[in-house]
Amino acid sequence: MKMKKNSKIPVDIELLKKYDKAGPRYTSYPTAPYFHDGIGEKQYLEHIRQDNKTVADRDISLYFHIPFCDTLCYFCGCSMMVTRNQNKIEQYIEYIGKEIGLLKKHLDDDRKIRQLHWGGGTPTHLSPDQIKKLGEVIHQHFEFSEHAEIGVEIDPRELTKNHMIALSDAGFNRCSMGIQDFDPKVQESVNRIQPESITRDAVAWARELNFSSINLDLMYGLPFQNAKTYSKTIDKVLAMNPDRLAVFNYAHLPGMIKHQQLIKDKWLPGRDEKLELLKLSIEKLNNAGYVYIGMDHFAKPDDELTLAMEKGTLYRNFQGYSTHAGINLFALGITGIGMLSDIYIQNYKKLDDYYTALDNNQLPVMRGVTLNADDQIRREVITELMCNFKLDKSKFESKYQIQFDDYFADALRNLKSQEEDGLIILGSKQLKVTDMGRLLIRNIVMNFDFYLMEKQGEKPKFSRTV
Ligand SMILES: C[S@@+](CC[C@H](N)C(=O)[O-])C[C@H]1O[C@@H](n2cnc3c(N)ncnc32)[C@H](O)[C@@H]1O
Ligand code: SF4
Repeated sequence: MKMKKNSKIPVDIELLKKYDKAGPRYTSYPTAPYFHDGIGEKQYLEHIRQDNKTVADRDISLYFHIPFCDTLCYFCGCSMMVTRNQNKIEQYIEYIGKEIGLLKKHLDDDRKIRQLHWGGGTPTHLSPDQIKKLGEVIHQHFEFSEHAEIGVEIDPRELTKNHMIALSDAGFNRCSMGIQDFDPKVQESVNRIQPESITRDAVAWARELNFSSINLDLMYGLPFQNAKTYSKTIDKVLAMNPDRLAVFNYAHLPGMIKHQQLIKDKWLPGRDEKLELLKLSIEKLNNAGYVYIGMDHFAKPDDELTLAMEKGTLYRNFQGYSTHAGINLFALGITGIGMLSDIYIQNYKKLDDYYTALDNNQLPVMRGVTLNADDQIRREVITELMCNFKLDKSKFESKYQIQFDDYFADALRNLKSQEEDGLIILGSKQLKVTDMGRLLIRNIVMNFDFYLMEKQGEKPKFSRTV
């Protein structure tokens, strides 16, 4: 399906209501709840060695998790910790440097970085000197390929121009900034006071320093949000002219994330109001010329994400949508999740465990999962549908020696009602997601998830799909 640059997503609230249920975000398949501790450093090293020899594309993607934040946003679902203790931050940088050295020892020298991302927490909670120091360690160990995408997550509230200069000097050329909502009452209720002027300055510095893609994060479903105030927030954000926008659905899981209990249920918009906020976001961003990429993401028509979507080369991994399909992803720092050809690995979540492993000169792997043949087929089906919104059955039949309709008989049967609802067209040769279906893509691909469709056993808890 050739995506028209100006294609607008129709928003049918009744249909959204029908499909508003919990489901995975498919940044991996199998999803993280199926990772287990039978996977450790030994298995990780075996797979690194194997991929060193066999992987078709030798470039790599590196993710660095910087978990620290200055203050707690009550809504936060990220893996983060509040600290202003400089010794603690310095110690982390030392250890992550050690992890870089250990990992590099196991990678062939010709493997260059094509994609690098610092996420968090808040990477810009590091001082400019700390950014410089970590940047230097990475550059000492790795070469970068030409046109590498080097991105960082930024909290505008504590950012100075010197932070941006340090990032630019370290080679960063993409950035993503958290906003969520500009309304003072919303900001106060979630403990995130962020005047617009601060965000405008941060965006201006990024432009001045030639960052080539600037993303801004918004969130709908936060306390006290309503269509009137949220509409104003979107107008202000659009006036900043970002290249990309992420509009996240607030995942409220106070049973699992204790600090979210600081947000009272009665402050939250009701289900209908929340869906109206989603509709408003999509319509306003579409009208302003942004293209819906999928799963909360929008981009300008000439942004590389949009171009990749049009060319059918969009990819999805733990960092969300990406333009680099199929390269090995190595994640460093606590909680980081990496992906090689047929294994996912996750680092320890606690600092102590992470440091102990590194003190023993071991890569700090806590758990993971290897993919069996069925997982690999399903992962490719899910990725294809989430990224290209269509799937040619013949490609899977020749690659995996299966009869698509037989292999996925259950999924296709379940998809019938979604076809009747206008989300997908089940052709004899091709599956094609409709424009409305793109908004509910999680619900569509859930039909191909073996673990979710399995009848027995307690199911893990996921956030809601819309
Ligand atoms: C690591 S933060 C971005 C960088 C920086 N820490 C900041 O907040 O500005 C990543 C983004 O995740 C989103 N986020 C955090 N908690 C969330 C939740 N409970 N539900 C949905 N999105 C969430 C927010 O939009 C946030 O900007
Ligand atoms: S939203 Fe960002 S700044 Fe706020 S607590 Fe989470 S990671 Fe930290």
